[in-house]
Amino acid sequence: MARNKIALIGSGMIGGTLAHLAGLKDLGDVVLFDIAEGTPQGKALDIAESGPVEGFDGTFSGANDYAAIEGADVCIVTAGVARKPGMSRDDLLGINLKVMEQVGAGIAKYAPNAFVICITNPLDAMVWALQKFSGLPTNKVVGMAGVLDSARFRHFLASEFKVSVEDVTAFVLGGHGDTMVPLARYSTVAGIPLTDLVKMGWCTNERLEEIIQRTRDGGAEIVGLLKTGSAYYAPAASAIQMAESYLKDKKRVLPCAAALKGEYGLNDMYVGVPCVIGEGGVERVIEIELDTDERANFDKSVDSVKGLMEACRGIAPNLG
Ligand code: APR
Repeated sequence: MARNKIALIGSGMIGGTLAHLAGLKDLGDVVLFDIAEGTPQGKALDIAESGPVEGFDGTFSGANDYAAIEGADVCIVTAGVARKPGMSRDDLLGINLKVMEQVGAGIAKYAPNAFVICITNPLDAMVWALQKFSGLPTNKVVGMAGVLDSARFRHFLASEFKVSVEDVTAFVLGGHGDTMVPLARYSTVAGIPLTDLVKMGWCTNERLEEIIQRTRDGGAEIVGLLKTGSAYYAPAASAIQMAESYLKDKKRVLPCAAALKGEYGLNDMYVGVPCVIGEGGVERVIEIELDTDERANFDKSVDSVKGLMEACRGIAPNLG
């Protein structure tokens, strides 16, 4: 049986980490693509040379021509510009929108049956534009944000409570960024909701709010420390988990930026919601009941995504 083919569009910090993880997890053959000459080729060769040590066999190649992604089963898109200190995700919009147009055309031509995972920021607007530019079905184009945001939340909670990250689950909704909505009553330690843990004296509401705020600012905290770029280990791990759920038809329930068709009262937009990811791509969007406060926070987040979409339409009226 032929190995799966994974195309990584963008071979920067996240792209290289994705390729390495795909090798370590034996997910298939990997093609790194980039406009920068030498970068995808160099990273591909370096990772391939780690194969004999780590014990993985997949082939790794680099390319500057979209023809190399032909027939890919999964495309993970990180092409574009990453945030520098002082830059918001939204500052990236104009530059990265043009990149999405090129990437969408390349995927439409060479990998129209792929499951496409977008990571490029500002995420919810870029994945929406990428779906439009590529013309692929909405269930096959998804954005990576919620897995990362909830991983950050889980990490902070586990270290606060001094328990294993494995026993902490976290539930986040909404856009990727400062308005994302972590839901305390659906986030748990071994099934015990955070709201109950507060009642049990594990932490105060105020401390929980601080952790939630740190989660919202999680991306900026890393940018501030790195100074020359944004996070890449955790974003890459998160996208690989989504790709694996698709390739192995695991039907994981993961928070993703998905196209909404009436769910949560929204249409023709991408925003973070819990999804079932399997061989059909986004097989189901799970719609949960929100209380008044949660709905207000979600609406605020949706409004900020809509603002980004409007800005995109201003630059590219063909987005409709
Ligand atoms: N086509 C293909 N690749 C491109 C294009 C393009 N039009 N424009 C830029 N690139 C490539 C760059 O050459 C670079 O190698 O995209 C890569 C981006 O890599 P990095 O700058 O290292 O950024 P990275 O940290 O990987 O983040 C990528 O993900 O999380 C988001 O905000 C982040 O939007 C950013 C993206």
